[in-house]
Amino acid sequence: MADSERLTERDMRLAQWLNEAHAKEAELEADLTAHIAMTDKTSYKKRLQQHLRETRDHKRRVASRIKQLGGEAQGLTVSGIPRAAGEVAGKAMAAVKGQVGAARAALTEQAETHLRNAQEELREEHVEIAIYNRIETFADEVGDRETAQLARSIRRDEERMAKFLDAELSRLVKAFVRAEIPRDQRAASRTRRRSRSAASRSRSAARSASSRSRRSQASTRSSSRGGPRSRSASTARSSGSSRRSSSSTAGSRSTSSRRRGSSGT
Ligand SMILES: [Fe+2]
Repeated sequence: MADSERLTERDMRLAQWLNEAHAKEAELEADLTAHIAMTDKTSYKKRLQQHLRETRDHKRRVASRIKQLGGEAQGLTVSGIPRAAGEVAGKAMAAVKGQVGAARAALTEQAETHLRNAQEELREEHVEIAIYNRIETFADEVGDRETAQLARSIRRDEERMAKFLDAELSRLVKAFVRAEIPRDQRAASRTRRRSRSAASRSRSAARSASSRSRRSQASTRSSSRGGPRSRSASTARSSGSSRRSSSSTAGSRSTSSRRRGSSGT
């Protein structure tokens, strides 16, 4: 009796879905290897190398779980389950994608090749996240804690990689603009905008400091001349101005009454 014939419905489904994950990991192992060879940006290359190690580890752990469930990692022999879900199919897909990548590299500039490869990697990370999410939820629903925990742990690695790739894609697009677009067709750089606004802030701070210093000098001079007198002079000036203001109001009132009088006749 074949191993697969002894599998319960639950374990057979889990092994089938884990096999999809295994095939995807095998495909991405080949993709990452190709992209690492094409990349000359050190920080990006290092992160790809780290994820290649993670991918190999994921593949190994998934294969081990499939075996524990009673299945086989290289395409199940269960009836009704397509062998195309196996590692062979994953590697064949990676080989096709590798040829597409090489053709792209021949046709496009280096900077554009890098960013298109990063976009491809980001898309694949999201496919993996969806696969592991599906496995985790299924495993939770059927009470397989070990498979759920494995899927959750791998999904977290994929999410970290997707987050990195999202940010890297922006960096690569910026590098592409610097490499391909003439300076006079680009927006002012954020650094230049930042330094302009910092200069404007420091000019305004200098103006406020100088105005504060003038007010303080004036106040010192005024108190050295005798505070009370100067205060009464100021009060007198103020009341004079207030008198002027009320006389002006009165004048205005009398003008308007004259107008009313003339309009009444
Ligand atoms: Fe991944």
